[in-house]
This record gives sequence, structure tokens and C-alpha cells, in this order.
Amino acid sequence: MKPMINIALPKGRLGEQVYDMFEQAGFDCPAIKKKGRKLVFENEEAGVRYFWVKPVDVAIYVERGAADMGVVGKDIIMETEPDIYELLDLDAGKCRMAVAAPRDFRDSPSRTLRVATKFSNIARNYYASMDRDIDIIHLNGSIELAPILGLSDVIVDIVETGNTLRANKLEVLEYFAPISARLIANKSAFRFKYEGVDRITEALGKIVAAKAKAAEEEEAE
Ligand code: PRP
Repeated sequence: MKPMINIALPKGRLGEQVYDMFEQAGFDCPAIKKKGRKLVFENEEAGVRYFWVKPVDVAIYVERGAADMGVVGKDIIMETEPDIYELLDLDAGKCRMAVAAPRDFRDSPSRTLRVATKFSNIARNYYASMDRDIDIIHLNGSIELAPILGLSDVIVDIVETGNTLRANKLEVLEYFAPISARLIANKSAFRFKYEGVDRITEALGKIVAAKAKAAEEEEAE
């Protein structure tokens, strides 16, 4: 019997969207769509076992080998720098990493910049690349509040529609990294379960390409 491939999916809207791609690629597991508290689902015939985990934890499961593969946002990969292989851009959950500030913000480069973010590592790397002194204020959510309340000068955060920024009278100063969901693999699973990992990667690659083509055709109409 072929070995099962254990796949960590991010719980939530992105995970559901990405599961549909696995399903279209031939790795379905209908029970996963039933609402309930169950976290593990398998389809022995297709050789896959899925489990729902918190989006920020996917890379930990994969890095440690509790999952052979997983789906995680590029933002989390950039922030936590896990020791995994990034196999495929799934072209889903697209957004951008940005610096934003109140509309009347004027920067003075000689001053230490106070940056609120839940992506401390990304922010640190970004400002280090331009040799800028910063003071990181690490928050876990509602980052947009920080400059409004004077807790920070700017924020580093993901922007999808821009609605949250607009609603809080903030504007983007710079977009500096495109973000999307990535298919990742554990390094030893990639060696020892290569056949299964490769089969899934290739089938998903075809789904991504077909979706891109359909979007292109729709745009041309
Ligand atoms: C994220 C992000 C922004 C918002 C951007 O927050 O931190 O606040 O989404 O999306 P938009 O450009 O479409 O408005 P999330 O919903 O993850 O909640 P959080 O504030 O708890 O981080």
C-alpha cells in the first residue's frame, strides 16, 4: 500500500478555498465539508490525510514532520523562516505586505521610526535593508489602531482590499512584498515520500494553471 501523505490545511476561508483545489486535483475527502469539530479526515484510496490547523501553525507541523505537506501564506513563511521546501504558489489568498500611516504622516529619517506590526521579523528585515532605525511594537491584531492612538508612527501589515486602511484613515506608503498561499513540504518527506508529494504537487500545479488561464480568458472577454 502506498504511504499516506499527511497534509496540514489552514483553518478558515483560505483553507476551504485551497481544499477545493485539492479536490479538483483528485484528492477529495468529502467528509471534510461536514460542519463539526473533527480535525482529521482521510481518503485512504487517494492516499491523503488532511488536518485543520491554525494558519500560523501550519509551517510548524510541516517543519517538524507531523505533516508531510501543508498550505501556508507567504507572510508566515517570511515571518517565521521555517526549514521547509516551498513547492508551489497556489495563487490563492492574494494580498500585499505594506507600510501604512495616517494621511498626514510626515517622516523624518533622522528619527527612530515606531512601527506597529504582527510581522516583527518582516518589518525588521525590511527596515534593515534600508538602514533605518526602528522601534518595533509587536501587536497580535487590530494593528490599524496603533497609529490612530499614537502608539506608533506607521504599521507594517497585509493589505487585501484596502478597506481596513480606508476605514481607519490610513494610507499605504509602500507595498513591498506580494503574498499568496504556498504549498510546502517537510524536507525528509520530500525525499522519502517523494512519489506521493510529487503527484500532489503536479496535480495542483495543473489546477493553478487552469485557473490562471480561465481568469485570463474571462478578462479578455
Ligand atoms: C488582516 C490585516 C488587516 C486586514 C486587511 O487582518 O491585518 O487588518 O486583514 O484586509 P483588507 O485590506 O481587505 O481590509 P485580520 O482580518 O487577519 O485581523 P486582525 O486585525 O486580527 O489581524
